[in-house]
Amino acid sequence: MRGVCRSLTAIPNMNMGHRYTGLIERYRDRLPVADDTRLISLGEGATPLVKLNNIPRAFGLRAELYVKYEGLNPTGSFKDRGMTLAVTKAVEEGARAIICASTGNTSASAAAYAARAGITCFVLIPEGKIALGKLAQAMIHGAVVIQIQGNFDAGMNLVKQVASEVPVTIVNSINPYRLQGQKTAAFEIIEELGSAPDYHCLPVGNAGNITAHWMGYCEYADHGIVNNRPVMVGYQAAGAAPFVLGEMVDQPETVATAIRIGHPQSWDKAWQVQKESGGWFEKFSDEEILAAQKLLAEKEGIFCEPASAVSLAGALHDLKCGRIPAGSRIVCTLTGHGLKDPDTAIQQSIGPVLKIRAEPEAVKRAILDNLAR
Ligand code: F0G
Repeated sequence: MRGVCRSLTAIPNMNMGHRYTGLIERYRDRLPVADDTRLISLGEGATPLVKLNNIPRAFGLRAELYVKYEGLNPTGSFKDRGMTLAVTKAVEEGARAIICASTGNTSASAAAYAARAGITCFVLIPEGKIALGKLAQAMIHGAVVIQIQGNFDAGMNLVKQVASEVPVTIVNSINPYRLQGQKTAAFEIIEELGSAPDYHCLPVGNAGNITAHWMGYCEYADHGIVNNRPVMVGYQAAGAAPFVLGEMVDQPETVATAIRIGHPQSWDKAWQVQKESGGWFEKFSDEEILAAQKLLAEKEGIFCEPASAVSLAGALHDLKCGRIPAGSRIVCTLTGHGLKDPDTAIQQSIGPVLKIRAEPEAVKRAILDNLAR
Protein backbone atom coordinates (compact mmCIF):
# COMPACT_ATOMS: atom_id res chain seq x y z
CA MET A 1 0.00 0.00 0.00
CA ARG A 2 2.75 2.42 0.96
CA GLY A 3 4.52 1.53 -2.27
CA VAL A 4 1.49 2.55 -4.35
CA CYS A 5 1.25 5.93 -2.61
CA ARG A 6 4.92 6.60 -3.16
CA SER A 7 4.73 5.86 -6.87
CA LEU A 8 1.71 8.16 -7.31
CA THR A 9 3.27 11.09 -5.51
CA ALA A 10 6.41 10.61 -7.56
CA ILE A 11 4.54 11.63 -10.74
CA PRO A 12 4.40 15.43 -10.83
CA ASN A 13 1.24 17.33 -11.88
CA MET A 14 -0.83 14.19 -12.15
CA ASN A 15 -4.43 15.26 -12.55
CA MET A 16 -6.08 12.36 -10.75
CA GLY A 17 -9.82 11.86 -11.13
CA HIS A 18 -10.24 14.42 -13.89
CA ARG A 19 -12.51 13.17 -16.67
CA TYR A 20 -12.74 15.12 -19.93
CA THR A 21 -16.44 15.43 -20.72
CA GLY A 22 -16.50 17.27 -24.01
CA LEU A 23 -16.13 20.73 -25.43
CA ILE A 24 -19.30 22.35 -24.06
CA GLU A 25 -18.16 21.67 -20.51
CA ARG A 26 -14.63 22.78 -21.42
CA TYR A 27 -15.74 26.07 -23.03
CA ARG A 28 -18.98 26.60 -21.15
CA ASP A 29 -18.32 30.32 -20.62
CA ARG A 30 -17.92 30.88 -24.37
CA LEU A 31 -20.98 28.93 -25.49
CA PRO A 32 -24.71 29.68 -25.16
CA VAL A 33 -25.57 27.16 -22.42
CA ALA A 34 -27.08 27.71 -18.99
CA ASP A 35 -25.84 26.11 -15.77
CA ASP A 36 -28.75 23.67 -15.75
CA THR A 37 -28.71 22.82 -19.47
CA ARG A 38 -28.64 19.06 -20.03
CA LEU A 39 -25.54 18.49 -22.15
CA ILE A 40 -25.67 15.95 -24.96
CA SER A 41 -22.03 14.97 -25.31
CA LEU A 42 -19.86 12.08 -26.42
CA GLY A 43 -16.57 13.58 -25.22
CA GLU A 44 -15.88 15.43 -28.50
CA GLY A 45 -13.03 17.89 -29.02
CA ALA A 46 -9.48 17.88 -27.58
CA THR A 47 -8.20 16.32 -30.81
CA PRO A 48 -4.45 15.95 -31.46
CA LEU A 49 -2.45 18.68 -33.17
CA VAL A 50 0.26 16.64 -34.83
CA LYS A 51 3.43 18.23 -36.17
CA LEU A 52 4.46 16.78 -39.53
CA ASN A 53 8.14 15.84 -39.74
CA ASN A 54 8.67 13.51 -42.64
CA ILE A 55 6.70 15.31 -45.34
CA PRO A 56 8.35 18.76 -45.00
CA ARG A 57 11.74 17.02 -44.90
CA ALA A 58 10.97 14.91 -47.98
CA PHE A 59 10.10 18.03 -50.00
CA GLY A 60 12.84 20.21 -48.53
CA LEU A 61 10.22 22.61 -47.20
CA ARG A 62 11.07 24.90 -44.32
CA ALA A 63 7.81 25.30 -42.40
CA GLU A 64 6.20 24.41 -39.12
CA LEU A 65 3.38 22.28 -40.45
CA TYR A 66 0.69 20.83 -38.17
CA VAL A 67 -2.43 18.81 -38.78
CA LYS A 68 -5.43 19.07 -36.48
CA TYR A 69 -6.73 15.51 -36.58
CA GLU A 70 -10.47 16.05 -36.33
CA GLY A 71 -11.07 12.52 -37.54
CA LEU A 72 -10.45 11.48 -33.92
CA ASN A 73 -13.72 12.96 -32.72
CA PRO A 74 -16.29 10.41 -31.46
CA THR A 75 -17.97 9.80 -34.83
CA GLY A 76 -14.79 10.36 -36.82
CA SER A 77 -15.27 13.92 -38.05
CA PHE A 78 -15.25 17.57 -36.99
CA LYS A 79 -19.04 17.62 -37.21
CA ASP A 80 -19.27 16.41 -33.61
CA ARG A 81 -18.08 19.81 -32.36
CA GLY A 82 -21.11 21.56 -33.77
CA MET A 83 -23.48 18.65 -33.28
CA THR A 84 -23.01 18.41 -29.51
CA LEU A 85 -24.22 21.99 -29.16
CA ALA A 86 -26.91 21.84 -31.87
CA VAL A 87 -28.48 18.73 -30.33
CA THR A 88 -28.06 20.05 -26.78
CA LYS A 89 -29.96 23.21 -27.75
CA ALA A 90 -32.57 21.33 -29.79
CA VAL A 91 -33.35 19.12 -26.80
CA GLU A 92 -33.38 22.13 -24.46
CA GLU A 93 -35.91 23.79 -26.76
CA GLY A 94 -38.11 20.68 -26.66
CA ALA A 95 -37.35 19.08 -30.03
CA ARG A 96 -38.27 15.42 -30.41
CA ALA A 97 -36.62 15.06 -33.83
CA ILE A 98 -33.76 16.51 -35.85
CA ILE A 99 -33.10 16.50 -39.58
CA CYS A 100 -30.18 17.17 -41.91
CA ALA A 101 -29.11 16.82 -45.51
CA SER A 102 -25.65 15.38 -45.73
CA THR A 103 -22.78 14.12 -47.82
CA GLY A 104 -22.26 11.64 -44.97
CA ASN A 105 -20.45 13.00 -41.94
CA THR A 106 -23.18 15.31 -40.70
CA SER A 107 -25.65 12.44 -40.93
CA ALA A 108 -23.33 10.13 -38.96
CA SER A 109 -22.83 12.74 -36.28
CA ALA A 110 -26.49 13.75 -36.08
CA ALA A 111 -27.52 10.09 -35.83
CA ALA A 112 -25.11 9.44 -32.95
CA TYR A 113 -26.03 12.53 -30.92
CA ALA A 114 -29.76 11.90 -31.50
CA ALA A 115 -29.26 8.37 -30.16
CA ARG A 116 -27.46 9.80 -27.14
CA ALA A 117 -30.30 12.27 -26.58
CA GLY A 118 -33.05 9.71 -27.17
CA ILE A 119 -34.67 11.60 -30.05
CA THR A 120 -35.38 10.75 -33.68
CA CYS A 121 -33.01 11.63 -36.50
CA PHE A 122 -33.87 11.99 -40.19
CA VAL A 123 -31.08 12.19 -42.73
CA LEU A 124 -31.32 12.98 -46.44
CA ILE A 125 -28.37 11.60 -48.37
CA PRO A 126 -27.48 11.59 -52.07
CA GLU A 127 -28.03 8.23 -53.73
CA GLY A 128 -24.80 6.31 -54.30
CA LYS A 129 -22.51 9.21 -53.33
CA ILE A 130 -21.91 8.60 -49.66
CA ALA A 131 -18.89 6.73 -48.31
CA LEU A 132 -19.64 3.33 -46.83
CA GLY A 133 -18.49 4.05 -43.27
CA LYS A 134 -20.76 7.08 -42.98
CA LEU A 135 -23.81 5.19 -44.18
CA ALA A 136 -23.02 2.40 -41.71
CA GLN A 137 -22.93 4.94 -38.89
CA ALA A 138 -26.25 6.58 -39.74
CA MET A 139 -27.87 3.14 -39.95
CA ILE A 140 -26.44 1.59 -36.79
CA HIS A 141 -27.38 4.64 -34.72
CA GLY A 142 -30.96 4.16 -35.85
CA ALA A 143 -31.47 7.25 -38.00
CA VAL A 144 -34.25 7.26 -40.57
CA VAL A 145 -32.13 7.26 -43.71
CA ILE A 146 -33.82 8.88 -46.70
CA GLN A 147 -31.87 8.46 -49.91
CA ILE A 148 -32.79 10.99 -52.59
CA GLN A 149 -32.25 10.91 -56.33
CA GLY A 150 -30.26 14.09 -56.24
CA ASN A 151 -27.10 15.59 -54.79
CA PHE A 152 -26.41 17.32 -51.46
CA ASP A 153 -27.59 20.71 -52.72
CA ALA A 154 -30.97 19.24 -53.72
CA GLY A 155 -31.22 17.55 -50.31
CA MET A 156 -30.45 20.78 -48.50
CA ASN A 157 -33.18 22.59 -50.45
CA LEU A 158 -35.68 19.88 -49.57
CA VAL A 159 -34.78 20.01 -45.88
CA LYS A 160 -35.24 23.79 -45.82
CA GLN A 161 -38.58 23.48 -47.59
CA VAL A 162 -40.12 20.83 -45.34
CA ALA A 163 -38.61 21.58 -41.93
CA SER A 164 -40.96 24.49 -41.26
CA GLU A 165 -44.00 22.28 -41.86
CA VAL A 166 -43.07 19.30 -39.67
CA PRO A 167 -41.84 19.18 -36.05
CA VAL A 168 -38.10 18.76 -36.70
CA THR A 169 -35.04 20.91 -35.97
CA ILE A 170 -32.49 21.38 -38.75
CA VAL A 171 -28.96 20.52 -37.60
CA ASN A 172 -27.08 21.45 -40.76
CA SER A 173 -24.55 24.25 -40.38
CA ILE A 174 -27.26 26.84 -41.12
CA ASN A 175 -28.18 26.10 -37.49
CA PRO A 176 -26.12 28.80 -35.73
CA TYR A 177 -25.24 26.51 -32.80
CA ARG A 178 -23.25 24.30 -35.17
CA LEU A 179 -20.76 27.08 -35.90
CA GLN A 180 -20.62 28.07 -32.24
CA GLY A 181 -19.52 24.55 -31.35
CA GLN A 182 -17.09 24.29 -34.24
CA LYS A 183 -15.28 27.51 -33.32
CA THR A 184 -13.74 25.65 -30.35
CA ALA A 185 -11.23 23.99 -32.70
CA ALA A 186 -9.56 27.40 -33.07
CA PHE A 187 -9.47 27.80 -29.26
CA GLU A 188 -7.69 24.47 -28.88
CA ILE A 189 -5.11 25.32 -31.54
CA ILE A 190 -4.33 28.69 -29.94
CA GLU A 191 -4.01 27.12 -26.51
CA GLU A 192 -1.55 24.51 -27.78
CA LEU A 193 0.58 26.80 -29.92
CA GLY A 194 0.48 29.79 -27.58
CA SER A 195 -0.71 31.96 -30.47
CA ALA A 196 -2.72 31.63 -33.66
CA PRO A 197 -0.86 30.02 -36.58
CA ASP A 198 0.20 32.18 -39.52
CA TYR A 199 -2.00 30.20 -41.92
CA HIS A 200 -4.96 27.91 -41.39
CA CYS A 201 -5.85 25.64 -44.31
CA LEU A 202 -9.19 23.86 -44.60
CA PRO A 203 -11.24 21.89 -47.08
CA VAL A 204 -14.32 23.89 -48.08
CA GLY A 205 -17.76 22.50 -48.93
CA ASN A 206 -20.60 24.51 -47.42
CA ALA A 207 -17.95 26.75 -45.85
CA GLY A 208 -19.39 26.44 -42.36
CA ASN A 209 -16.15 25.16 -40.89
CA ILE A 210 -13.89 27.89 -42.28
CA THR A 211 -16.41 30.43 -40.99
CA ALA A 212 -16.52 28.81 -37.55
CA HIS A 213 -12.73 28.70 -37.25
CA TRP A 214 -12.49 32.39 -38.11
CA MET A 215 -15.13 33.13 -35.44
CA GLY A 216 -13.01 31.28 -32.88
CA TYR A 217 -9.76 32.99 -33.85
CA CYS A 218 -11.42 36.43 -33.79
CA GLU A 219 -13.05 35.74 -30.41
CA TYR A 220 -9.70 34.99 -28.76
CA ALA A 221 -8.06 37.97 -30.47
CA ASP A 222 -10.92 40.32 -29.55
CA HIS A 223 -10.67 39.24 -25.91
CA GLY A 224 -6.92 39.88 -25.89
CA ILE A 225 -6.02 36.23 -25.36
CA VAL A 226 -3.79 36.42 -28.44
CA ASN A 227 -2.70 39.30 -30.60
CA ASN A 228 -2.63 37.60 -33.98
CA ARG A 229 -5.07 35.93 -36.38
CA PRO A 230 -4.26 33.49 -39.16
CA VAL A 231 -4.71 33.92 -42.88
CA MET A 232 -7.57 31.56 -43.73
CA VAL A 233 -7.11 29.46 -46.86
CA GLY A 234 -9.93 27.35 -48.31
CA TYR A 235 -9.30 24.48 -50.68
CA GLN A 236 -11.87 22.80 -52.88
CA ALA A 237 -12.05 19.85 -55.26
CA ALA A 238 -11.67 20.96 -58.88
CA GLY A 239 -15.07 19.55 -59.85
CA ALA A 240 -16.85 21.24 -56.94
CA ALA A 241 -15.15 24.61 -56.63
CA PRO A 242 -17.74 27.41 -56.54
CA PHE A 243 -15.51 29.68 -54.44
CA VAL A 244 -12.65 29.38 -56.90
CA LEU A 245 -14.91 29.92 -59.91
CA GLY A 246 -16.80 32.72 -58.16
CA GLU A 247 -20.17 31.16 -58.99
CA MET A 248 -22.38 28.25 -57.99
CA VAL A 249 -21.80 24.87 -59.62
CA ASP A 250 -24.90 22.89 -60.62
CA GLN A 251 -23.36 19.46 -61.18
CA PRO A 252 -20.51 19.12 -58.64
CA GLU A 253 -18.37 16.01 -59.02
CA THR A 254 -15.38 14.70 -57.07
CA VAL A 255 -13.99 11.56 -55.49
CA ALA A 256 -14.00 13.56 -52.24
CA THR A 257 -17.72 12.99 -51.77
CA ALA A 258 -17.78 14.88 -48.45
CA ILE A 259 -17.23 18.15 -50.33
CA ARG A 260 -19.28 17.35 -53.43
CA ILE A 261 -21.20 20.58 -53.00
CA GLY A 262 -21.95 23.21 -55.63
CA HIS A 263 -24.20 25.62 -53.73
CA PRO A 264 -22.47 26.37 -50.41
CA GLN A 265 -24.75 27.41 -47.56
CA SER A 266 -22.25 29.84 -46.00
CA TRP A 267 -21.40 31.63 -49.27
CA ASP A 268 -21.42 35.23 -48.00
CA LYS A 269 -19.83 34.38 -44.66
CA ALA A 270 -16.90 32.62 -46.32
CA TRP A 271 -16.20 35.54 -48.65
CA GLN A 272 -16.13 37.76 -45.60
CA VAL A 273 -13.61 35.41 -43.94
CA GLN A 274 -11.47 35.52 -47.07
CA LYS A 275 -11.49 39.32 -47.14
CA GLU A 276 -11.02 39.89 -43.41
CA SER A 277 -8.19 37.36 -43.05
CA GLY A 278 -6.47 38.19 -46.34
CA GLY A 279 -6.86 34.59 -47.49
CA TRP A 280 -7.75 32.86 -50.74
CA PHE A 281 -9.47 29.84 -52.31
CA GLU A 282 -7.81 27.31 -54.57
CA LYS A 283 -8.83 24.03 -56.20
CA PHE A 284 -7.11 20.69 -56.70
CA SER A 285 -7.83 17.71 -58.92
CA ASP A 286 -9.03 14.38 -57.56
CA GLU A 287 -5.60 12.93 -58.41
CA GLU A 288 -3.84 15.59 -56.33
CA ILE A 289 -6.26 15.06 -53.44
CA LEU A 290 -5.74 11.29 -53.41
CA ALA A 291 -1.96 11.70 -53.69
CA ALA A 292 -1.98 13.91 -50.58
CA GLN A 293 -4.14 11.41 -48.70
CA LYS A 294 -1.71 8.62 -49.53
CA LEU A 295 1.36 10.73 -48.75
CA LEU A 296 0.05 11.53 -45.29
CA ALA A 297 -0.83 7.90 -44.62
CA GLU A 298 2.47 6.53 -45.89
CA LYS A 299 4.88 9.15 -44.58
CA GLU A 300 3.31 10.25 -41.31
CA GLY A 301 1.00 7.40 -40.29
CA ILE A 302 -2.10 9.56 -40.39
CA PHE A 303 -5.21 8.33 -42.20
CA CYS A 304 -7.73 10.95 -43.24
CA GLU A 305 -10.55 10.82 -45.73
CA PRO A 306 -10.07 12.25 -49.26
CA ALA A 307 -11.89 15.55 -48.59
CA SER A 308 -9.62 16.25 -45.63
CA ALA A 309 -6.48 15.69 -47.68
CA VAL A 310 -7.19 18.69 -49.91
CA SER A 311 -6.04 20.91 -47.04
CA LEU A 312 -2.59 19.28 -47.09
CA ALA A 313 -2.46 19.19 -50.91
CA GLY A 314 -3.15 22.91 -50.88
CA ALA A 315 -0.72 23.83 -48.11
CA LEU A 316 2.12 21.91 -49.78
CA HIS A 317 1.35 23.46 -53.16
CA ASP A 318 1.20 26.99 -51.77
CA LEU A 319 4.39 26.47 -49.77
CA LYS A 320 6.24 25.18 -52.82
CA CYS A 321 5.16 28.11 -54.99
CA GLY A 322 5.87 30.65 -52.22
CA ARG A 323 2.31 31.93 -51.77
CA ILE A 324 2.74 30.72 -48.19
CA PRO A 325 6.21 31.99 -47.22
CA ALA A 326 8.94 29.62 -45.99
CA GLY A 327 9.21 29.51 -42.22
CA SER A 328 5.44 29.93 -41.71
CA ARG A 329 3.52 28.17 -39.00
CA ILE A 330 0.63 26.37 -40.69
CA VAL A 331 -2.28 24.29 -39.42
CA CYS A 332 -4.24 22.03 -41.78
CA THR A 333 -7.54 20.66 -40.57
CA LEU A 334 -8.02 16.96 -41.25
CA THR A 335 -11.80 17.00 -41.11
CA GLY A 336 -12.60 13.28 -41.23
CA HIS A 337 -11.06 9.87 -40.54
CA GLY A 338 -9.84 7.72 -43.41
CA LEU A 339 -11.87 4.74 -42.20
CA LYS A 340 -15.00 6.59 -43.30
CA ASP A 341 -14.21 5.69 -46.89
CA PRO A 342 -12.47 2.31 -47.01
CA ASP A 343 -13.34 1.71 -50.68
CA THR A 344 -11.33 4.69 -51.91
CA ALA A 345 -8.40 3.80 -49.67
CA ILE A 346 -8.21 0.23 -50.91
CA GLN A 347 -8.65 1.22 -54.56
CA GLN A 348 -5.65 3.50 -54.54
CA SER A 349 -3.27 1.31 -52.57
CA ILE A 350 -0.66 -0.09 -54.94
CA GLY A 351 0.90 -2.58 -52.53
CA PRO A 352 -0.93 -5.81 -53.37
CA VAL A 353 -2.06 -8.10 -50.60
CA LEU A 354 0.36 -11.04 -50.70
CA LYS A 355 -1.35 -14.40 -50.86
CA ILE A 356 0.83 -17.26 -49.63
CA ARG A 357 0.67 -20.77 -48.20
CA ALA A 358 0.29 -20.89 -44.40
CA GLU A 359 3.86 -22.13 -43.89
CA PRO A 360 6.87 -20.54 -42.14
CA GLU A 361 9.05 -20.73 -45.28
CA ALA A 362 6.49 -18.83 -47.33
CA VAL A 363 6.14 -16.16 -44.63
CA LYS A 364 9.93 -15.78 -44.41
CA ARG A 365 10.16 -15.43 -48.20
CA ALA A 366 7.44 -12.75 -48.16
CA ILE A 367 9.36 -10.81 -45.50
CA LEU A 368 12.76 -11.04 -47.15
CA ASP A 369 11.39 -10.09 -50.58
CA ASN A 370 9.69 -6.98 -49.22
CA LEU A 371 12.03 -5.58 -46.58
CA ALA A 372 12.78 -2.40 -48.51
CA ARG A 373 9.24 -1.62 -49.63
N1 F0G B 1 -14.45 17.70 -44.83
C1 F0G B 1 -15.32 16.73 -44.54
C2 F0G B 1 -14.79 15.39 -44.19
C3 F0G B 1 -16.71 17.00 -44.55
O1 F0G B 1 -17.56 16.03 -44.26
C4 F0G B 1 -17.17 18.28 -44.91
C5 F0G B 1 -18.59 18.59 -44.98
C6 F0G B 1 -16.20 19.26 -45.20
C7 F0G B 1 -14.85 18.93 -45.14
C8 F0G B 1 -16.56 20.65 -45.56
O2 F0G B 1 -16.96 21.40 -44.46
O3 F0G B 1 -19.12 22.16 -45.35
O4 F0G B 1 -18.12 23.20 -43.32
O5 F0G B 1 -17.12 23.59 -45.58
N2 F0G B 1 -19.49 17.72 -44.90
C9 F0G B 1 -20.93 17.99 -44.85
C10 F0G B 1 -21.70 16.73 -44.52
C11 F0G B 1 -21.46 18.72 -46.02
O6 F0G B 1 -22.87 16.63 -44.87
O7 F0G B 1 -21.15 15.85 -43.86
P1 F0G B 1 -17.88 22.67 -44.68
